Amino acid sequence: MSKTHSDIGLIGLAVMGQNLALNIADHGFQISVYNRTVEKTEKFVAENPNTPGGLVGTKTLEEFVQSIALPRKIVILVQAGKATDAVIDGLLPLLAPNDIVIDGGNALWTDTIRREKALKEKGFRFIGSGVSGGEEGARFGPSLMPGGDKSSWDELKPIWTAIAAKVDKKTGKPIAGAKPGKPVKGGVPCTTYIGENGAGHYVKMVHNGIEYGDMQMICEAYSLMSGLLGLKPAEMGEIFSTWNKGSLDSFLIEITADILKQKDPVTKKPFVDIVLDTAGQKGTGKWTSVNALDMGVPAPTVAESVFARCLSAIKDERVAASKVLKGPKIKKVSPAKKKALIAAIHDALYCSKICSYAQGFQLMRTAQGEYGWKLNFGQIAQIFRGGCIIRAAFLQKITEAYARNPKLANLLLDQYFNKTIQKAQTNWRKVISLAVENGISVPTFSSALSYYDGYRSARLPANLLQAQRDYFGAHTYERVDTKRGKFFHIDWPEASRPQLEA
Ligand code: 2AM
Repeated sequence: MSKTHSDIGLIGLAVMGQNLALNIADHGFQISVYNRTVEKTEKFVAENPNTPGGLVGTKTLEEFVQSIALPRKIVILVQAGKATDAVIDGLLPLLAPNDIVIDGGNALWTDTIRREKALKEKGFRFIGSGVSGGEEGARFGPSLMPGGDKSSWDELKPIWTAIAAKVDKKTGKPIAGAKPGKPVKGGVPCTTYIGENGAGHYVKMVHNGIEYGDMQMICEAYSLMSGLLGLKPAEMGEIFSTWNKGSLDSFLIEITADILKQKDPVTKKPFVDIVLDTAGQKGTGKWTSVNALDMGVPAPTVAESVFARCLSAIKDERVAASKVLKGPKIKKVSPAKKKALIAAIHDALYCSKICSYAQGFQLMRTAQGEYGWKLNFGQIAQIFRGGCIIRAAFLQKITEAYARNPKLANLLLDQYFNKTIQKAQTNWRKVISLAVENGISVPTFSSALSYYDGYRSARLPANLLQAQRDYFGAHTYERVDTKRGKFFHIDWPEASRPQLEA
């Protein structure tokens, strides 16, 4: 028996919208759906007649809004930016006070802050929720990162916790096995209230930045194994499968193993060998890096992973340059040292990953001060454990680190991460030295190591830099032998200044 009014509504029936609607219906919630192009709605509803909760197709926005129980919960899953604003503008005249609009797209967090404020002024509520895990996640359990006013989260919580990915309470491992109409039962849901206004979309953006880093770091490990050892893709696939059973256990390592073992259906060659080496991007990694620069937070590894994609994209230029710019000839490592080198590359990947996550969490920590959020970093790591592209056993270590010390200044300072790097750093340094000696580009591995070495330096060469600034621009300097906050300036001798040409 269908209810007179739906529990929730959803606008935008592209794949993500359809899958999220089916996931919601699978959990027994009746959901009204609307799409600008009506045929898509009709086809979608006709193709899915027997969901546990039921889909209600609607042809107009008015009919859609009227079909939802008060206070309404309306999920928008259209393109971020103008399309989202257009849909919100269309909805506003139809809403009742206290209705909740939920943007599940990949919105820029500052847009979410703006929208939340605008809706609140009109008496409505707004949630910006990160939805991670791609199409598969949306269908069978995404990681959900909602930000907005707390009262609206309380209303949305039963649905969001029902549809989110689930992880095992004890081990934190994702619980798999959901099927259409048969979601998994039990487990800890991968969603939690993130914070006010744009906090959810901000955390989702940093998640994506971290994902960029993870992907590039894996590519560098692959490049080193291939370059220094001449390993074939299938053999590297086996190594990644082995790694996936240890501390690197994660979705991205798992799919990398599968990809490396895959043959091209046409030529039967290893699939990776026939894929052109140019990577695209949609912009969330760039947003993360731009925000790091804006806030003055060192996040070089995330930024390098974006630049690595940019460098990959200028393929024609690289091909031309490869004929002109010479580097060292790669010296293959002897088979006797193969096992040790593979172990060292593993360690280099793990140490770099720790630094990359440390940077991502530093970003969230600084943003929380900037925007007045109260983020729970342990919980954020926990909800990344299932549903997300970056889901990994490693995240449990982050949750544990913040449980030990919720005010941890930097992940690197936690006892587990500190000890891990102590043990592995000789290998990490060796791998990067080998890469440099042999002319193999490892931007994220090496930037992570520089971050580590910079962060643990009580004194950096910025003393000289500040002296330079004082010389040419009278920017002043602080002294090592006086209290911080007192600024000095030297009258640099005229003679030693660069002479301008007349
Ligand atoms: P469509 O099927 O009518 O194109 C992803 O593109 C989703 O966003 C689709 O469901 C699409 O609807 C919807 N969409 C894109 N721009 C829109 C707009 N300006 N107003 C409403 N829906 C829009």
